[in-house]
Amino acid sequence: MALFKSKKEAGDDQPRTVPCHIAVIMDGNGRWAKKRGLPRTAGHAAGAETFRRVATYCRDIGVKYLTVYAFSTENWKRPKEEVDAIMGLLEKYLLEAIEKMERDHIRLKFFGDTSVLSPVLRERIAETDAISARMDGFQANVCLNYGGRDEIVRAAARWAELAAAGETEPLTEERFSGLLWSGGIPDPELLIRPGGELRLSNFLLWQSAYTELIFTDTLWPDFDAREIDRAIEEFNRRDRRFGGL
Ligand code: IPE
Ligand code: IPE
Ligand code: MG
Repeated sequence: MALFKSKKEAGDDQPRTVPCHIAVIMDGNGRWAKKRGLPRTAGHAAGAETFRRVATYCRDIGVKYLTVYAFSTENWKRPKEEVDAIMGLLEKYLLEAIEKMERDHIRLKFFGDTSVLSPVLRERIAETDAISARMDGFQANVCLNYGGRDEIVRAAARWAELAAAGETEPLTEERFSGLLWSGGIPDPELLIRPGGELRLSNFLLWQSAYTELIFTDTLWPDFDAREIDRAIEEFNRRDRRFGGL
């Protein structure tokens, strides 16, 4: 059973800190499939279902933003068949999501350069953006063709454009943050990486400056509400000093 009750069940006096923003590197799909003698694609399909369950759970316990790493700027290095399969799954997933977003109260946003994706995928992203614009509440940010360095370089280029156009205000961390894909969204308090690797793999490099990092061996398709609860428990045990005492 989940340790954290949904907002509806929980009394106001229940002591807990549920992070406002949780980030997840959805890793381990391929190994999950391999362990079962299945093609890697089957792992990606299972991973998409896990995203649906985890997003719903995060929404229910009062998380405001969930940012997930779905496809990195480096993942294009994979064999074409795997990339095509992942893109196909994304198309399918978005088609289903478009039908359910309003009913499920899950807004979807995309971080990353989506202009290079297939016309079908871009069309579905445009549709989800339009639906998200007329909703409020829980937001899932899907990082697609996303790289932390790419995001920082694009923000710097944007700033250069503004400066060339006559911007006179000095550049501050706040203003720079506003030029990232995540502009306007608070930094994640908690970042979880399932799949056993102990690295960021170019995820949220700017935003994770003071994020609490949690690594787990569980492969993403096996990840569930209980793992989110464990991570939140661990987060609540951390002493966040931000350089102070
Ligand atoms: C994460 O799972 C999904 C993507 C990177 C697209 P992987 O495909 O990296 O799975 P492993 O790490 O090989 O098990
Ligand atoms: C990070 O996983 C990217 C996503 C989960 C989308 P990778 O599997 O690509 O990372 P590395 O190659 O192990 O660093
Ligand atoms: Mg991986």
